[in-house]
Amino acid sequence: MSKIFVDACFGKETPYTPVWMMRQAGRYLPEYMKVRNEMGSFLNLCHAPEKAAEVTLQPLDIVGVDAAILFSDILVIPDEMGMDLSFVKGEGPKFSDPVKTHEDLDRLIGGEEAAGKLTYVYDTIKLLRRQLDERGDGKALIGFTGAPWTLATYMIEGQGTKTYNICKKMMYTQPGLLHAILRKVTDVVKLYMEKQIQSGVDVVQIFDSWAAAIEPDNYDEVSWKYMVEIAEYLKEKYPHIPVIMFPKGIAGFIERGLVYGDFDVFGVDWGTPMALAKEKLGDRYVLQGNMEPCRLYSKQMTTESVEALQKVMGGKRHIFNLGHGILPDVPVENAIHFVDECHRVSQK
Ligand code: CP3
Repeated sequence: MSKIFVDACFGKETPYTPVWMMRQAGRYLPEYMKVRNEMGSFLNLCHAPEKAAEVTLQPLDIVGVDAAILFSDILVIPDEMGMDLSFVKGEGPKFSDPVKTHEDLDRLIGGEEAAGKLTYVYDTIKLLRRQLDERGDGKALIGFTGAPWTLATYMIEGQGTKTYNICKKMMYTQPGLLHAILRKVTDVVKLYMEKQIQSGVDVVQIFDSWAAAIEPDNYDEVSWKYMVEIAEYLKEKYPHIPVIMFPKGIAGFIERGLVYGDFDVFGVDWGTPMALAKEKLGDRYVLQGNMEPCRLYSKQMTTESVEALQKVMGGKRHIFNLGHGILPDVPVENAIHFVDECHRVSQK
């Protein structure tokens, strides 16, 4: 059975425009909270394939999205490179020993050895592959990674940051060290994504959540070229697997015509007008997005946005999504409303 989401990624005609939501498996769902609490912590849940598979599928049944995204986190990669990830309640992710020097970087595991340690992710994907095939409803499974730059921000800062001052100090005073980190992470990510594909994902997405921290003229050098390297490595070996790029907050990079590379779908963040993305990128890439996630607080505002997006895209070369992740305090019925509206307005 051909999968409508995969068809849409390749720009083929579909009976309606498929929809999913970034961060769709998460805290706004009481069913997710129940499983997470049973497991004791978020990281325990990521390490338990049966439970991770269960929460991956929840949004398909509860919200009605057309694709499931693997339940895991981008930060399991540096964790398995040897960085000791923890989540501190109310504060988010933490690495106890951030990378400050070349010696710190040399101590981290790289390449095949690091990618080979993420077995719980591959086991979750294999379980999901079987479960989705058994369901037979043609819903797709999305695998993912963080972009090397976004991963590096956590590895260098040791946690999330508002100013990026530690990694930007490195960018401007020790660019060789920053690029050595990006090189090592890129090499792990290529193999990690390849193993996700071999384990059974239908599509992959690369999240560059903190792209906006980089000047548009430097964005290619610091982040985009590494993302393209990963995408092109995968496209060459697995042309039937669509690759989605999601660099958040780079309208300036798009506007100046700097986007290039062999991949299939460009994820448009909510700060970039869809009409601008369509004009600059719509011929070359299928566009995904881009409702402002906070519109989900109002059903009426959601409907207005979905209708406006449908008007711009005309149901062609488009995948509905939010322009970033869904927030934990969104009512579930509003998320269902979003998905229903996307299907309603685009039904052929
Ligand atoms: O549903 C999905 O999208 C799949 C699962 C997923 C998670 N994280 C689960 C998660 C995905 C794709 C991610 C990616 C991720 N993780 C990104 C890129 C996407 C984005 O939103 O920009 C980033 C930057 C991270 C790093 C990360 N992980 C942060 C900053 C946090 C804390 C955020 C918070 O709100 O507390 C996490 C934890 C995390 N990852 C949670 C979930 C469901 C919350 C954990 C919990 O308390 O249950």
